[in-house]
Amino acid sequence: MGAIARARPNIALIKYWGKRDRDRNLPAVGSISITLEDLYTEMAVEFDADLAEDSLVVNDEDSPGLLPRISRSLDAVAGNSRPRARVRSECNFPIAAGLASSASAFAALVVAASAAAGRDRSVAELASLAGFASGSAARSLYGGFVELRNGDDDIAVESLADAADWPLRVIAAVTASAPKPVSSGEAMEISRRASPFYRRWLDEQPADLELARSAIAARDFSKLADVAEHNCLKMHSVMWASRPPVVYWNAATLSCLQTVRDLQSRGHGVFFTIDAGPQVKAVCLQGAAAEVADALAQTPGVESVLASGIGAGAALVDKP
Ligand code: PMV
Repeated sequence: MGAIARARPNIALIKYWGKRDRDRNLPAVGSISITLEDLYTEMAVEFDADLAEDSLVVNDEDSPGLLPRISRSLDAVAGNSRPRARVRSECNFPIAAGLASSASAFAALVVAASAAAGRDRSVAELASLAGFASGSAARSLYGGFVELRNGDDDIAVESLADAADWPLRVIAAVTASAPKPVSSGEAMEISRRASPFYRRWLDEQPADLELARSAIAARDFSKLADVAEHNCLKMHSVMWASRPPVVYWNAATLSCLQTVRDLQSRGHGVFFTIDAGPQVKAVCLQGAAAEVADALAQTPGVESVLASGIGAGAALVDKP
């Protein structure tokens, strides 16, 4: 029995950084993201009682290194005594380079695997299963503007607004396409253990979430820009101050921030955010998108730019 699902990465405007329960992969803070439209992962899962073990092919290449996380997630979805599975993934953007490929991958995986296992699950249940594999993946179950709230014993994910309600654009400037040297999970653990700013990060998150929520409700771009840039720089400051320090940025990352500042000073509606990698994502008003993409493409050290609108949540794909 098989199924195929498609999910898109999401970009956090208020970041998830830190875990409160590592075994269950529960986040230490809530977060708010936008789901992208034009980048996606398509995941095909086929359970087969005749298989001796799981297999994984990513973009037509065998990828045994990623298999343990995939198998764990399949166990969570279909139970430990499930049949083994053939998993194929196609991703139309660079993997593991800070463009949230794990979010789209695990969101697509749980949707496809659940259907392939004949389980009828709510979006909330699927989000919880995706979050177990990768915290940010839970948000990719929904489209538009999405909040992940930390409940007492689990996470709850909800949509704050649809893409059509506020059709912002995202321009991602890729400054290095190699996989990142330190995984986000490891870096979060270093921050928790050894950053003098970690406690303050946790304490201030509710106020940042509230500001972003109200900015989204009011479609107030400059208010959202202000809190999103602040939250991003605060997350990276937590990492920079840890021992050992974790610095995901390169020289081009900083040049992109300068480009965004320059665009802002010329009146363009744009702000930056950066995740666990050196890429810069510029979120902008539709009217600014062409100029933002040009300016970032011309910034020294930028390898390529990817443009996207805001898109829909994870869903099954009908294929013959
Ligand atoms: O979901 P993970 O474990 O890849 O962690 C995501 C961490 C950030 O991308 C930096 C922030 C976020 O909220 O997506």
